[in-house]
Amino acid sequence: MNAPNNKNNLISTYDLTKKQVCSLIQEALRLKIKKGTAKTALCGKTLAMILQKPSTRTTVSFAVGMVQLGGLPLILNSQDLQLRRGESLSDTAKALCRYVDAIMIRANSHADVIELAENSSVPVINGLSDKEHPCQVLGDLMTICESMGLKNPEELKGVSVAYLGDGNNVVHSWLLAASLLGMNLSIATPKNYEPEKEYLKKAQGLAKVSGTTITLTNDPATASQNADVLYTDVWASMGKDDEREKRKTIFKSFQLNADILKFAKKKALVMHCLPAHRGEEIASDV
Ligand code: NVA
Repeated sequence: MNAPNNKNNLISTYDLTKKQVCSLIQEALRLKIKKGTAKTALCGKTLAMILQKPSTRTTVSFAVGMVQLGGLPLILNSQDLQLRRGESLSDTAKALCRYVDAIMIRANSHADVIELAENSSVPVINGLSDKEHPCQVLGDLMTICESMGLKNPEELKGVSVAYLGDGNNVVHSWLLAASLLGMNLSIATPKNYEPEKEYLKKAQGLAKVSGTTITLTNDPATASQNADVLYTDVWASMGKDDEREKRKTIFKSFQLNADILKFAKKKALVMHCLPAHRGEEIASDV
């Protein structure tokens, strides 16, 4: 599914060029170091945030970011909107964009993000859907730059990331970002829980240009060999909670723990998009 992208939407990592990703990270790093220097950058601007699913970090970071840059965040739980009474997302979009300058949505379905974008005259940002989580991975890339002391996001090229677990929204965004930036990505999932073919295909296309390696395996140890970054996510994403018990058995050997850490580089970073289920996808000591 491709999003309409004629108004700076951020629906998929695929909407961004390598240059855009690098300058977003560079600018975020600059703003973080020089905190308080852009207090009026978004003065008079309003961001509506529609939340169809729970959110802690995404909502707080968007809201605090808006305030620190002089703008106004509106946190709109979908249950409090007319959506709950059956108003369509397209009508909601048409109403909101008369008042606000951008809309972020955390959506049950990726199709909802697209529907919103198709009916909005202001930019729409995907704050997580069942298919992708582009802002998460942009934040992760920034963290890797900071933790590895990379001055320029271009230096992410050649960094090796091992992802263990479910072939879900987060790994879809990772596939696109890593292949765009020339990072090596090894993904270990149980059989039948691999990332969707559409994302693998797009990533392979980008990888041809950047010269990166994307590897898929069902063996977490193989994926973790010499990794600079070990990354995981919950085994049952939001919306799949009823599969949690079944998945605990299927994913058992994919836990990010001290045994897995031994395969990675000595100074490897351990990352999780959070929230974590300690003792499931990640051991507490790690
Ligand atoms: N894959 C997880 C990410 C949470 C930030 C989920 O969709 O629930």
